[in-house]
Amino acid sequence: MKHQNVCVIGGGGFVGHHLVSLLAARGCRVWVPTRRRQRVIDLAVLPTVEVLEADVHDPATLRELLRGKDAAINLVGILHGTRAEFERAHVELPRKIALACIDSGVGRLLHMSALGADAASQSFYQQTKARGEAEVMAIGQAQGLAVTAFRPSVIFGPGDSFLTLFAELLRLAPVVPLAGAWARFQPVYVGDVARAFATALDAPETHGQVYPLCGPRVYTLEALLRLTARTLGLKRWIIPLDRSQSYLFARLMELKPGKKLMTRDNYYAMLSDNVCPDGFPAVFGQPTALEAVIDYLRGTGPHCGYERYRAQARR
Ligand SMILES: NC(=O)c1ccc[n+]([C@@H]2O[C@H](COP(=O)([O-])OP(=O)(O)OC[C@H]3O[C@@H](n4cnc5c(N)ncnc54)[C@H](OP(=O)(O)O)[C@@H]3O)[C@@H](O)[C@H]2O)c1
Repeated sequence: MKHQNVCVIGGGGFVGHHLVSLLAARGCRVWVPTRRRQRVIDLAVLPTVEVLEADVHDPATLRELLRGKDAAINLVGILHGTRAEFERAHVELPRKIALACIDSGVGRLLHMSALGADAASQSFYQQTKARGEAEVMAIGQAQGLAVTAFRPSVIFGPGDSFLTLFAELLRLAPVVPLAGAWARFQPVYVGDVARAFATALDAPETHGQVYPLCGPRVYTLEALLRLTARTLGLKRWIIPLDRSQSYLFARLMELKPGKKLMTRDNYYAMLSDNVCPDGFPAVFGQPTALEAVIDYLRGTGPHCGYERYRAQARR
């Protein structure tokens, strides 16, 4: 690959694990800054991957991290948080990363946005994703930094926190009330997302472009939950909640201490379809069908508990 030395900010998460492994397999040297190295120690065993603790919000640290690299990839994102936390992760950090690329002489930046990113959305997640994306594209254009942004629908695959969470709920509960049952998604396989990033690194035709990333089929959330139950061989009573019930459910979940199952911000995001009318971009190949790989969910049961508990504890 032309871009041999790559810093993947947010590379310690779900998408990051798949992308960093792919880049390493393609012969890149990869640096992964994280807030807690111990959580990402599994990536550090790859011979060309260096995992290091760093505060990526500090501009001087960012410049130091990016010095001498050929490309930067930003995968940082949060699903739950206050308005200020969304702003910091999705707008301020991407801006700092783009500016640090310019200061450090890095000419290539790949940025992770999200399908449904919309500055006018009621959801802070979608609002801030749209503004962060717009900022990095504008900085790129104004200052000669080659930026490509990606907008995936919900991403599935080993290590996800979407269908895997459904699988865990279904294993625990014979009756599952489902908020946002009507919401339409076009889930995309994590391997295809990683391939799109890795391909774009060295593809000049992708400079300045924003790519929606979706799988081959559209599903409602209810259809996805039922498919998960069928895959696991579980007979469950699924109760689709309507909009007002879903709002109330999200409100109740917000009161729960610790990790949130759902928030009102997620509810607002589910009010619009999360689909790609144009499908997966041909420049990145063909997308993988969910049904072709969904068996990974069978490997998330109690017999595979150790990896799962480690992931939950973020250790
Ligand atoms: N998963 C999906 O279905 C989906 C769909 C559309 C878009 N996306 C976007 O894709 C990206 C990756 O998603 P993912 O599923 O891989 O997420 P993830 O597993 O939660 O990983 C997110 C990464 O962001 C970093 N991070 C989170 N908050 C941070 C903060 N305040 N400061 C610095 N770093 C922070 C974490 O770094 P540490 O190592 O320090 O914890 C982690 O490595 C995100 O931008 C997300 O919005 C995901």
